Amino acid sequence: MKILLLGSGGREHALALSLAPHVEALYAVPGNPGISHIENAECIDGDILNGRAIVEIALHKNVDLVVIGPEAPLVAGVADDLREAGVAVFGPSGAAAKLEGSKAFAKEIMALAEVPTALARICSTREEAEDALQMFPPPYVVKDDGLAAGKGVVVTEDLEKAREHAFECIDAGGSVVIEEFLDGPEVSLLCVCDGKTVIPLEAAQDFKRLKDGGEGPNTGGMGSYSPLPWAPVGLADEVLERVAYPVIRELERQGTPFVGILYCGLALTERGIRVIEFNVRFGDPETQAVLPRLKTPLTEVLYAAATGKLHQLEPLEWDEDAVVAVVLASEGYPGKLTLGVEVSPMEGLIHAGTAWKDDRVVTTGGRVAAVIGKGETVAQAREAAYSAIVPFEGMQYRTDIAAGI
Ligand code: AMP
Ligand code: GLY
Repeated sequence: MKILLLGSGGREHALALSLAPHVEALYAVPGNPGISHIENAECIDGDILNGRAIVEIALHKNVDLVVIGPEAPLVAGVADDLREAGVAVFGPSGAAAKLEGSKAFAKEIMALAEVPTALARICSTREEAEDALQMFPPPYVVKDDGLAAGKGVVVTEDLEKAREHAFECIDAGGSVVIEEFLDGPEVSLLCVCDGKTVIPLEAAQDFKRLKDGGEGPNTGGMGSYSPLPWAPVGLADEVLERVAYPVIRELERQGTPFVGILYCGLALTERGIRVIEFNVRFGDPETQAVLPRLKTPLTEVLYAAATGKLHQLEPLEWDEDAVVAVVLASEGYPGKLTLGVEVSPMEGLIHAGTAWKDDRVVTTGGRVAAVIGKGETVAQAREAAYSAIVPFEGMQYRTDIAAGI
């Protein structure tokens, strides 16, 4: 099998590491230095938002499957272009990707499918936002409606800050979702879908805030681990029954079947599970902690999903070992970044925002890389990850990823 993978982040490096051993060739557009190190992988320059260019590469390389990593090409409809050209693709259509592209659309689908989620108001004027902020007690939750790489959400006790973020989004011509605060541990459950059948991967937890103890601004994710030894038994079944299947059926009913990963971001509240958000692709950095544990070849899973055959797949097999991923970020992240800093080699390094400069690896993004540790327990995996870190100039990371688990 030959596979074309789109994207250049840590998620894509993790995907590439899982896919490569089972394929004849793996092409990545544009890929990253970590992917380029994989023996049978080749990185190709290209614009992943340009559907026609991607179709051309897929046909020229004669690939059997395209795997789309990030949300932006999905929302832009690149999967539609590939399907029209007769290429098998793992990733939803532009219409189904709206589930991530618009938080308002996600709320609508959840209402129609009766999926438990935070009560919310969608506001497109300052007056509506002001009203909504009066409706819910603090902490206030204000979300930019569109794609914001995990950084469009403000959760704050401070009414003035909540108002400021709401007005900023509205004044920029967008709308905001203002919603009830959900209290409880968060779980990410990535579900593989082929339009009709849903198969959950093992659950993971992501650490969204920049600083230890959940302080600081929201980020794309500062670390993750899997499995979750504390998660309630039967959680995945409950999510399938109450969340994933109702959503998949509603999308099918609307004529936009969902093929790809339905990422369910959940809060386990005292009143039961609630959806915090949907994403329409593998989570980053959850993927880095989940995929190294999957024993079933990922190629088989993704190809079965892309071709509507998930119901024929044997149950997934998992390694009992735990994996912890600690994200290493640039100075200034998630704000103004200092880039071009040299990164030393590290054991278990998953590249995210890096590039070659001559024969050195330098930083090019906010989240530079993740260090992966494996062990029999989460504590051992954590120890392995932290002891592999080699600092670079200005490096930021959390010291409490998977602590106390
Ligand atoms: P989102 O981009 O919607 O996942 O939001 C990013 C992060 O903000 C989530 O992972 C949560 O930690 C937090 N968050 C979002 N919505 C809520 C909510 N309704 N209640 C509490 N925390 C939230
Ligand atoms: N880790 C959160 C996300 O992938 O959006």
